[in-house]
Amino acid sequence: MAIGLLNGKRGIISGALNDQSIAWKVAELAHTEGARFVLTNAPVAMRMGEIKKLSESTGAPVIGADATNDADLEKLFTESTQLLGGKLDFVLHSIGMSPNVRKGRHYTDVNYEWYKQTLDVSAMSFHRMLQAAHKLDSLAENGSVVALTYIAAQRVFPDYGDMADAKSLLESITRSWGYHLGRAKRVRVNSISQSPTMTTAGQGVKGFDSFFGFAHDMSPLGNAPAEDCARYCLALFSDYTRYVTMQNLFHDGGFSHTGITPEVVAKYAK
Ligand SMILES: NC(=O)c1ccc[n+]([C@@H]2O[C@H](COP(=O)([O-])OP(=O)(O)OC[C@H]3O[C@@H](n4cnc5c(N)ncnc54)[C@H](O)[C@@H]3O)[C@@H](O)[C@H]2O)c1
Repeated sequence: MAIGLLNGKRGIISGALNDQSIAWKVAELAHTEGARFVLTNAPVAMRMGEIKKLSESTGAPVIGADATNDADLEKLFTESTQLLGGKLDFVLHSIGMSPNVRKGRHYTDVNYEWYKQTLDVSAMSFHRMLQAAHKLDSLAENGSVVALTYIAAQRVFPDYGDMADAKSLLESITRSWGYHLGRAKRVRVNSISQSPTMTTAGQGVKGFDSFFGFAHDMSPLGNAPAEDCARYCLALFSDYTRYVTMQNLFHDGGFSHTGITPEVVAKYAK
């Protein structure tokens, strides 16, 4: 039941590729809760056409931007504040891609040109977004920025490959920009570390289906669905979290603090 949690707030939501995307769920819920926002994605992803459906159902304009391209990002922030009629109260970074993972290159044998792309698309893009927003003074006082991350930043998940390094960098960028934007404009910056989720990016990781089941069995609440991740994003965009910043927040059903469960023990019983 909608309560108007984001009434009057303006924002940018990146990364809605199709109706499985976490960003798609965030956009639907933000619309229901009264926000006005711009949708953005890489021009190549937009050509697939699905984002148009989301644009129609939420009334959100779409502005294409490659998150590794500074000129695109400047245009995104400039046009978004114009279209929405004011500065931005929230920004969602929901962007990730590793050519090494996609093409099955093992962590011990990465292609370094692809590795640079992994870091640029999945982590440096967050820095680029915030630098563009800051220089253009596009963020409103008391705004909130959220990036999506994964626990492979803290623990080794071998098939997550160089994305683990990208997520570590993303979480560090979260803290650093959290400091600078907090001082400058009381804008908070946090990352949400989400459970494995059945999306295009998630399913690109080798052995994802087995891992999804393992994580579910290792979480007292089970894996957190994308819809609930959207709820957590909205909580952070709302005025109820105005002193939460520079944090990496686990949204994983308890996975990050669980050592073993009867479900997993049963699988090893002789
Ligand atoms: N699915 C999971 O299991 C899971 C778990 C934890 C965190 N995450 C993170 O959640 C975020 C969203 O992923 P998702 O699972 O919804 O998958 P998704 O594939 O639906 O979303 C990834 C998005 O990144 C966009 N993107 C890629 N390159 C881009 C570029 N150069 N410029 C702009 N956009 C670009 C894609 O077009 C796509 O919309 C990612 O950061 C991902 O790492 C996902």
